[in-house]
Amino acid sequence: MGVTISDIREMKARKEKIPMITAYDYTSAMIVDAAGIPVILVGDTLGQVVLGYNSTLPVTMDEMIHHTKAVARGTKNALIVGDMPFMSYQASTTEALHNAGRFLQEGGAQAVKLEGGVGMALTVQRMVSSGIPVMGHIGLTPQSVNQLGGYKVQGKSLKAAVRLMEDARALEEAGAFALVLECVPASLARLITERVAIPTIGIGAGKSCDGQVQVFHDMLGLFTDFVPKHAKRYANLGETISSALAKYISEVKDQSFPGKEHSYYIKEEVLAELQAQVR
Ligand code: KIV
Repeated sequence: MGVTISDIREMKARKEKIPMITAYDYTSAMIVDAAGIPVILVGDTLGQVVLGYNSTLPVTMDEMIHHTKAVARGTKNALIVGDMPFMSYQASTTEALHNAGRFLQEGGAQAVKLEGGVGMALTVQRMVSSGIPVMGHIGLTPQSVNQLGGYKVQGKSLKAAVRLMEDARALEEAGAFALVLECVPASLARLITERVAIPTIGIGAGKSCDGQVQVFHDMLGLFTDFVPKHAKRYANLGETISSALAKYISEVKDQSFPGKEHSYYIKEEVLAELQAQVR
């Protein structure tokens, strides 16, 4: 068995920080897993960075399951968390339970993530009591971008900060095993992290969170439509790929590719016989 939710809880207990990264396909999952990342999120950000939608809202359950399966095939050790897409869990608890179950049954994930706090607590409780580990997600919840009026930092006023603290506590009580805090002031994220027993995973929420999550394409410089302030670029693979492609184009044109080492051959006598026959 690979990483479990107990391992993640124990990491918080011994103050070991938790690095989480998104992955959406077999190859990237293999790389992330081999690097020793303990938690892979198959995020609904795949809508933007893989499928080219302009928000996460159009992402469907079938798309999420398709990509989660690919990630599961590439993962040996990491805990896989499947992100529940917009309207897959909001309409009814029954539907939420059914869709969460699909991530484990069909997708090969070990847990799901959903957005929302107090209002989602009952749904989380039902999932947890059905054997489905749930990661909460509060603060900036991108599926509510229309309600929030844009992608904005959350919890800046006293009222909003108190509400976020209540959301965190409600999710903990409902049995969530961890909590994503997105775009939350660092000092508020620290207070939440100190006051809940479950690990907090920050994205734009400062260094006091128990872990951090980054979007694969953002941190590796593969997605340039927009780069959020909280994304740190650890590599510029987009540029590396572009210059490799430029080299490929020029080598095909000047015939330096393919070389002998990339070609297949038949014996000279077979070739001679062939030429005689087709003459
Ligand atoms: O979908 C996603 O990638 C996420 C992370 C940004 C937390 O929800």
